[in-house]
Amino acid sequence: MISLHHNDIGGLVANMEKKISPSIMCADFFDLENYIKEFESNGIEYIHVDIMDGSFVPNFTLGTDFVKQLKSRTSIPLDIHLMIDEPEKKLDWFDFGVGDYVAVHVESTKHLHKALDAIKKRGAKPMVTINPATPISAIEEVLDVVDGVLVMTVNPGFAGQKMVPSTLKKISSLRKFLDDNGYSHVEIEADGNVSFENAKLMSEAGANIFVAGTSSMFNKNFSLAEGIARLRQVIA
Ligand code: DX5
Ligand code: ZN
Repeated sequence: MISLHHNDIGGLVANMEKKISPSIMCADFFDLENYIKEFESNGIEYIHVDIMDGSFVPNFTLGTDFVKQLKSRTSIPLDIHLMIDEPEKKLDWFDFGVGDYVAVHVESTKHLHKALDAIKKRGAKPMVTINPATPISAIEEVLDVVDGVLVMTVNPGFAGQKMVPSTLKKISSLRKFLDDNGYSHVEIEADGNVSFENAKLMSEAGANIFVAGTSSMFNKNFSLAEGIARLRQVIA
């Protein structure tokens, strides 16, 4: 169900269901079973899986076997964030399907439609990702084939960074562009430094899926359940 409200730039925008996607790369890998149980018992909507190739971004994280194992251990849909070069050549390496989101960076390929179409053909939901410095205009040509846009609020590659302030305005401009151009069904996900404070601002700007990492979920100062409850409160 989508209703309309005014955002901080005065435009009428869609009110979408607010969802949380914990970034599993930020978890204690030796306690994953308990995390998954907590996610399931707290109604978590997605599990965010960061895939890095050491080329598109200067870091390595999770891989194909991890995705396969995670998929076999939970019914929570995956939200696979591909930070790899030429993703259209590597999609078959990953286990995903109906209900899963798969995000590819507009900056990572010359054949974006090819990558997005291949994701859709497998029954999954294609998402296009833009880095902080990449303008919204770079993705206009693919908005008719995606279910979501992943707005990087930090430069990709590492957890624990500070939000790039201009990305808040980008979220509200994007939400308005989507709603003014017949794409009000397209979701907006925010990824990077989604703290309780920032999540509230991102939600008011028009984001509806929130990647929860070191600043709002995987934090020694409070339990996972407390983090989830507080995040739900601020994004509501
Ligand atoms: C960074 C990743 C993020 C990261 C978020 O490139 O895409 O998902 O794990 O971590 P925090 O919330 O600490 O910024
Ligand atoms: Zn991510």
